[in-house]
Amino acid sequence: MSHRLTVLILAGDVKGQRLITECKREGCRVFVLTRHALKDDDGWPKEDVDEFYYMPSLTRREEVINAVSYLARTEVIDRIIPLDDFDVEIASALREHLRVPGMGDTTARNFRDKLAMRMVTAEAGILGPEFVPILNHRAIHEYTQQVPGPWVLKPRSQAGAAGIKKIYSAEELWQKLNQMGDEQSQYLLERFVPGEIYHVDAITINSEVKFVEVSKYGKPPLEIIQGGGIFMTSVQNRRSLDVLQLQELNKKVLSALHFRRGVTHTEFIKSHADGKFYFLETAARVGGAYIADVIEHATDLNLWSEWAKIEIAGEKLPYKVPKFKTNYAGILLCLAKQEWPDMSGFDASEVVYKIHKKNHAGLIVASDDADRVQALMNEYSVRFANDFLAAAPQYEKIDR
Ligand SMILES: Nc1ncnc2c1ncn2[C@@H]1O[C@H](COP(=O)(O)OP(=O)(O)O)[C@@H](O)[C@H]1O
Ligand SMILES: [Mg+2]
Repeated sequence: MSHRLTVLILAGDVKGQRLITECKREGCRVFVLTRHALKDDDGWPKEDVDEFYYMPSLTRREEVINAVSYLARTEVIDRIIPLDDFDVEIASALREHLRVPGMGDTTARNFRDKLAMRMVTAEAGILGPEFVPILNHRAIHEYTQQVPGPWVLKPRSQAGAAGIKKIYSAEELWQKLNQMGDEQSQYLLERFVPGEIYHVDAITINSEVKFVEVSKYGKPPLEIIQGGGIFMTSVQNRRSLDVLQLQELNKKVLSALHFRRGVTHTEFIKSHADGKFYFLETAARVGGAYIADVIEHATDLNLWSEWAKIEIAGEKLPYKVPKFKTNYAGILLCLAKQEWPDMSGFDASEVVYKIHKKNHAGLIVASDDADRVQALMNEYSVRFANDFLAAAPQYEKIDR
């Protein structure tokens, strides 16, 4: 079977450059379907793309299906890979329509619809915040009487915490729902569980988790996105009980949602009140906000490249997770007052990467010692706050 595979990459956003490059390196023909607005973005690894295709937007399912089916009249498309969370759903719709292998509609729904993932995991006995769909008004009324607030009203299938609203009373909730009209059924309501937020990034093959890293955010993403501050996350000590517990929980979540193969990013809250882990959300893709870079500095394994290899191999060819190292890494990133902040003072030998982005200060630290990473993160976060941090909230979808 030496047929040269054609991979269609759905890119509602400019990201996943390493995945594109890996597809090329594996000898595939690489097509990228993206938005007109991103046409001249210099973030694309253009030399690794055989053909770009553009549409006004990648969110309208029927339009994308028509466009790609039109392309399929002249091109045989062997694989379809989404880059952004929004693209995950359309990718599975396209796979089903063109009968291309890979994750289909039913599984994708579990990973894109926060109500679906809540219901399916609750059914499997996995602890999560008490929730109610914004569907039947009597059920909502009963919920607000039984479950004390505050709650969060969140979109079922948008990512990026900017659409999430904390609600403090039933009056406030009903007022909001009335304003929303028909929009409301796109939301769910759940208890706000104060705690620390962890993320588990994994590779699964034949329903078995073959690679997993557990990391913890600094301040919760919601606070950073809506209130500003320094975004931090770091790989946690693999021998800690929290990490072992989260590895098990992650397996339970993925199996409840019938995930078979690919890369996932799953989040949990460790409740301040009872110390238990609550399932927050999951996604069938690589985590955003430099998470893949942090994991690469800790392990040498790049989740974007691995995802490319997994998708290309398909169900029929073998894929094996390559050997990886077990070091530690973490990131600090914030909006900076300065246009190009001077980061030369951050010169510890553990600083492995400095983020070069206008009005941002950011770096990645790595070490074979988990405690050393934590100590540096603590020290640097104080210095970032003093030297760089701009007060403006970061409306960018940073935890994706
Ligand atoms: N039930 C909850 N309790 C406490 N914090 C929450 C809850 N739901 C969401 N959050 C906060 O909002 C952020 C975003 O919510 P999440 O469900 O992960 O959606 P997304 O990351 O797709 O926008 C979380 O990282 C967390 O800080
Ligand atoms: Mg999240």
